[in-house]
Amino acid sequence: MSRHLISTKDFSTQEILKLFDRAESFLLEEPQQTLKGKRLINIFFENSTRTRSSFEIAAKRLGANVINLDVDASSTKKGETLFDTAANLDAMGPSVIVVRHKHSGVPQILSNFVRCSIVNGGDGAHSHPTQALLDLFTIRRHFKKVEGLRVAIVGDIKNSRVAGSNIELLTRFGMKITLVAPPHFLPKTDLECTNSLREAAVNADVIMSLRTQTERHNKPSYAGLKDYASDFCITKELLGANTILLHPGPVHRNIDIDDAALADERCKVLQQVENGVAIRMAVLEMLVQNGGKS
Ligand code: CP
Repeated sequence: MSRHLISTKDFSTQEILKLFDRAESFLLEEPQQTLKGKRLINIFFENSTRTRSSFEIAAKRLGANVINLDVDASSTKKGETLFDTAANLDAMGPSVIVVRHKHSGVPQILSNFVRCSIVNGGDGAHSHPTQALLDLFTIRRHFKKVEGLRVAIVGDIKNSRVAGSNIELLTRFGMKITLVAPPHFLPKTDLECTNSLREAAVNADVIMSLRTQTERHNKPSYAGLKDYASDFCITKELLGANTILLHPGPVHRNIDIDDAALADERCKVLQQVENGVAIRMAVLEMLVQNGGKS
């Protein structure tokens, strides 16, 4: 039976630490072709710049072949069910299928129809496990120690799969999270919440800004994104001397984060992207080798 990565809970803390050691080695040395002859298929039913390319580069760096299914030109447009699409692709012998879908739960369901590993590349507002892993890895590389760090997650938290995955993972590693958002962007939670960005920013070691997920809103929540930005855009002045700024991308410039803050050295957005390739290499290797045993 293949092992899947649907949510961050699929990996134990011990496995994640091992994964981070492996990712670190991928940042330092040219990797061996440990996945030579293996196949990875990307099926992205939602747009992506980072996640899809990152998985493709990660797999190719390890010697695997990559097929990117063109969903718009696929037989799903002729009425084939998602399950049949997955089962048919699986019959071509991939080791891993990476799935992104607008509906929560799709990767989990597809895992019942295939023999290969399914990796969740983001499903609805549910989960984006490799994003959270690369976020934690980025924080850990910067601060060396993560226990006790204070993280302000800012933005449309209720509709964000990145927030959901990070809340599970960062609290598991002993970080203290404050959610910063207007009331309609806050989920039901036991975590500390505020709508004062300025107050939260003063105490934060890490500010994680999130995009306003307008595609998941039933009705407009703000008169316009500019109104939202006047309360929640991260500016350079809000960053403490030792604070780092993260964002999973895509960034709405001057809505989520302003130009000056994005250009500041405390902003680690591109380091997140760089680290993401190494993390995905480690994830793919772990799932494919030894049947997913770490
Ligand atoms: N962070 C992230 O998921 O970006 P993409 O939507 O570009 O993949």
